[in-house]
Amino acid sequence: MNIRNAGVLVTGASRGLGLELSRELAREGAKVVMVARNTRDLDGAVRVVRDDAATSGLGGEAHGLAFDVGDKEAVHRISGAAAALAGDIDVVVHAASTLGPVPMPLLLDTECEDLERVLAVNLVGPFRLTKALAGPMVLRERGLVLFVSSDAAVSAYAGWGAYGISKAAQDHLARSLAAELDPVRFLAVDPGEMDTKMHADAMPDADRTTLARPADVAARLVTLIRTADTFPNGSRVAASDVPGGS
Ligand SMILES: NC(=O)c1ccc[n+]([C@@H]2O[C@H](COP(=O)([O-])OP(=O)(O)OC[C@H]3O[C@@H](n4cnc5c(N)ncnc54)[C@H](OP(=O)(O)O)[C@@H]3O)[C@@H](O)[C@H]2O)c1
Repeated sequence: MNIRNAGVLVTGASRGLGLELSRELAREGAKVVMVARNTRDLDGAVRVVRDDAATSGLGGEAHGLAFDVGDKEAVHRISGAAAALAGDIDVVVHAASTLGPVPMPLLLDTECEDLERVLAVNLVGPFRLTKALAGPMVLRERGLVLFVSSDAAVSAYAGWGAYGISKAAQDHLARSLAAELDPVRFLAVDPGEMDTKMHADAMPDADRTTLARPADVAARLVTLIRTADTFPNGSRVAASDVPGGS
């Protein structure tokens, strides 16, 4: 996938992996539409990405859309505004995610409404957005939808049930979409453990020095986006297996 001049929508883009990926892509000349809920954080993140894009001089852009991806009403507003701001959307990265309540309860202690919210943000929201954005990709016979997955999608850990279920379903969503919509590409990527707010919320006592820097993982994701056609459509990729970063 050619990144320069590509229209890219990144959810969860105000901090952590989504922000660092937006920076890398805009530096390489992509027109990046960044989605997150908190307007002030998002505005600050967009400024950072715009500054990076201006410094590299490759014509990259950054635009912010403050929406909740778990909100059904937001989907068409996001997809419509993204196309108006960046033109054809060639790449969608679903990085926004919720753990549900923290500390994370065991499944039998999990309120059904909390499971529903985790599924709304991590699975149904990305599904709705993909429905809205993949149609034009099918017509153009090109495009990439990248779902940010987790180790918890394949391994079961006590307390990670709701989140893990949502990520496992998201992986299968990628496989199922690939089976139906090839040559549009659908990949799930496990970023590995990163030093972010989400990690600190989940595991406040973790040794942060052992965690990857989101900027390093973002550099690997840029390689993955650029070489997406070389991976089996629908596959799950470990970011650590992709070159890039330090
Ligand atoms: N960190 C890790 O170790 C790790 C490991 C495996 C997988 N992952 C995955 O990597 C991805 C990025 O995680 P991260 O660690 O970078 O998280 P993070 O630093 O906590 O950032 C999360 C981003 O998502 C946004 N967001 C959260 N809920 C949202 C919603 N409902 N609608 C729109 N935006 C929303 C947040 O902004 P607002 O709060 O303002 O909306 C923020 O921009 C996630 O999919 C996560 O599951 C992370």
